[in-house]
Amino acid sequence: MKRLGRYSVFVVCWFICAAAGMSAAADARKIILDTDPGADDAIAILLALNSPELDVKALTVVAGNVVVEQGVKNALKLVSLAGRCEVPVARGASRPLVQKLVTAEFFHGANGLGNVELSAPACAADPRFAPDLILELIHQYPHEITLVPVGPLTNIALALRKDPSIVGLVKEVVLMGGSIAGGNATAAAEANIYNDPEAARAVFEAGWPLTMVGLNVTEKTLFTRADRNRLARSQGRENDFAVRVLDFLVDRASGLGAGGTPMHDPLAVGAVIDRSLITTRDMWVEVETRGEFTRGETVASRHNSSDRKVWRGDHYSIDGIEKVEPNVHVAVESDARRFIDLFISRLAGK
Ligand code: BDR
Ligand code: CA
Repeated sequence: MKRLGRYSVFVVCWFICAAAGMSAAADARKIILDTDPGADDAIAILLALNSPELDVKALTVVAGNVVVEQGVKNALKLVSLAGRCEVPVARGASRPLVQKLVTAEFFHGANGLGNVELSAPACAADPRFAPDLILELIHQYPHEITLVPVGPLTNIALALRKDPSIVGLVKEVVLMGGSIAGGNATAAAEANIYNDPEAARAVFEAGWPLTMVGLNVTEKTLFTRADRNRLARSQGRENDFAVRVLDFLVDRASGLGAGGTPMHDPLAVGAVIDRSLITTRDMWVEVETRGEFTRGETVASRHNSSDRKVWRGDHYSIDGIEKVEPNVHVAVESDARRFIDLFISRLAGK
């Protein structure tokens, strides 16, 4: 052993370490992050780009929190900030399938990034239309792509409409959206679903493995001012940007009486990094598209059944129950503190 000398030990170690690094990259989950950046989207994007468990194949941008042009600009600035120009950024739908677009600068700042200015992007946009890029990547990596939509579901619905075969070809869909405990855009509806209920309905009815990370868990996964101070102890370009965006979000949340900002989109990314950060229950979930007060609600059956009725001449009578197959893994709990710690550890010093 002595005769190997220090240099040989170093070389052997280098090979072992390189091999370990390569296998980690090969094991990484291929994801497409479909986003409407968006302040919490920005935080989610940085989390994804700094997590070795994930291989981000594309950022596909949809209109939502901001108009799609602004969203693309923001996504390009974020991949530039992270030094990741190899990640394609593709522009997608500029409006929902049926209704008019509703943007949310009140919650995300005039530029969508909490009014934090980043320098002009060094990376350029991919020329492909986002739904086409989604289709291309799913076919290129059959059964390997996890779709992570964290905005309105328009791009995903357009991809589905063009090529329904992707249902059997994606690994799974893990989305931020919906709720089983009331909404934020309206009393009943969560913003991503409310902003394109028809698209959401198509995605929920598609029949692919679908996990819903909704408000009922994201609103309990709060990033507090103390967390912000913890992240601010380290420095780095991404770290400092995240602190400033989170300042905006924490201030906005405290103005609305909350003790911290909900980690909506970041938690969905977290659930793909480490599934044990959420607990799910399988439920039958439908998207309401017609209700006067409930359009955009995700209506979840806790019992996965409904009454079976028979006609009795002049009225219906219940004669039993009908089981329904759950179509969604609904997140019902999150390990909020462990997630926040993970998030801080991924951004600290970057
Ligand atoms: C969702 O709506 C958007 O404003 C956020 O980015 C998040 O995706 C939360 O309801
Ligand atoms: Ca979003």
